[in-house]
Amino acid sequence: MTASSLTVTDNRTGKSYEIPITNGAIRAMDLRQMRTGPEDFGLLAYDPAFTNTASCISRITEIDGDRGILRYRGYPIEELAERSNYLEVAYLILNGELPTIAQMDEWVYEVTHHTWVHENVKKFMDGFHHDAHAMGMLCSAVAALSTFYPEAKNGGDPGTRKLQIVRLVAKMPTLAAFAYRHSLGMPYAYPDNDLSYTGNFLNMLFKTTEVKYQPNATLERALEVLFILHADHEQNCSTNAVRSVGSSQVDPYCALAGGVAALYGPLHGGANEAVLRMLAEIGSKDHVPAFIKEVKSGKDKLMGFGHRVYKNYDPRATIIKRMADEVFEVTRPNPLLPIALELERIALQDDYFVSRKLYPNVDFYSGLIYQAMGFPVEMFPVLFAIPRTSGWLAQWQEMRNDPEQKIARPRQLYLGAGKRSYVEIGKRDEESGTDG
Ligand code: SDX
Repeated sequence: MTASSLTVTDNRTGKSYEIPITNGAIRAMDLRQMRTGPEDFGLLAYDPAFTNTASCISRITEIDGDRGILRYRGYPIEELAERSNYLEVAYLILNGELPTIAQMDEWVYEVTHHTWVHENVKKFMDGFHHDAHAMGMLCSAVAALSTFYPEAKNGGDPGTRKLQIVRLVAKMPTLAAFAYRHSLGMPYAYPDNDLSYTGNFLNMLFKTTEVKYQPNATLERALEVLFILHADHEQNCSTNAVRSVGSSQVDPYCALAGGVAALYGPLHGGANEAVLRMLAEIGSKDHVPAFIKEVKSGKDKLMGFGHRVYKNYDPRATIIKRMADEVFEVTRPNPLLPIALELERIALQDDYFVSRKLYPNVDFYSGLIYQAMGFPVEMFPVLFAIPRTSGWLAQWQEMRNDPEQKIARPRQLYLGAGKRSYVEIGKRDEESGTDG
């Protein structure tokens, strides 16, 4: 059995090194021993955007990008989407095991009884402009929650940590609904503890003059499945942000505000909003070939396609696409759906996309469902942030519990100017900005 290691020769010195391989990786710090002399800092690994760097050991979510596999704590996403509900999946992600009946009852009770926010939250929500983007409002509101719970700074205490996790899972839908109602100029609708997690969210969004809001069962279940599919996704951009911000030991509210900010970007959670804008811009099936040509010339991106990890169909996209039909039966068919289906049909047979392994990701079809459910496009990334809260918190908790983790502080390769002396402003050469 050959040793699980690398034997590396540094040709600058002729020295050889034995570097152990563990779990399919080497420790980057093992490179530092390779030096050209006592003054040499040692070898670094250069990896912009961490395309080949494992930043942590995690036991939460497993993705196999080539085989299109996604599992939460070992359970396939397909089984969870079919048989579970969001709060049960959130419990699984956060605690590592599916809950017993007693554990589930306690978890649901705790979350249900923490959905309210301090009345002062309404005051700063009202301070936003009438057309403020919901993600900007959500990002601010999540960070603002830290000012209502100063004890959250004690993230090292398990009891304190658990309470903040319950508060964030419970209050994210409330903040999201408040942002939505603000954008419509409607009064805020308060939580209804008789309803499910998703039913109550629909209540806070859409309740008007009825005494008690009754959620549509098909839409309630559709949100459950969509929330399950978006709950976690290992070390994606926003999770990396939460881990990095959280590594300074700031409270989880501020760490998650960093995650919301990262998710807002059009290359990440903002992609579902960008997909709808792209489909609307294409306008009809007949315009799809011309758009594909634009993408292939590099002038545009096919939003909702491609993934850093999945080099096969995103398993979540498969489930969402199948679920779209059920939603459209109780809403109104989305006129943009035929355009999306034609885009997918052409892209899946065009070598430009096939050679780059670009397949529909979770964002390609989710926006069509959200739009059919009556959400404005600005709410789409918010609908991603709500369920991802449990994933972010599980990852934050794992980071805080990991004895190997410390404050995230990467190195750099400095290729800037060498040492030079200050020059008085009157003596600087305009062209070069240096002394004449
Ligand atoms: C999410 O990481 C996660 O897990 C994220 C997520 C989660 O659950 O947290 O799954 C959620 O963010 C899904 C991704 C949503 N984003 C989009 O749909 C935006 C469109 N997609 C791309 O911008 C892109 O595919 C990324 C950002 C998703 C991935 O980019 P990578 O891995 O950095 O790949 P790349 O940009 O290096 O692309 C490789 C090649 C390039 O072409 P060449 O330079 O080789 O000629 O593929 C091309 C890219 O130009 N390409 C695309 C494309 N995506 C990549 N070309 C056209 N349209 C696209 N969408």
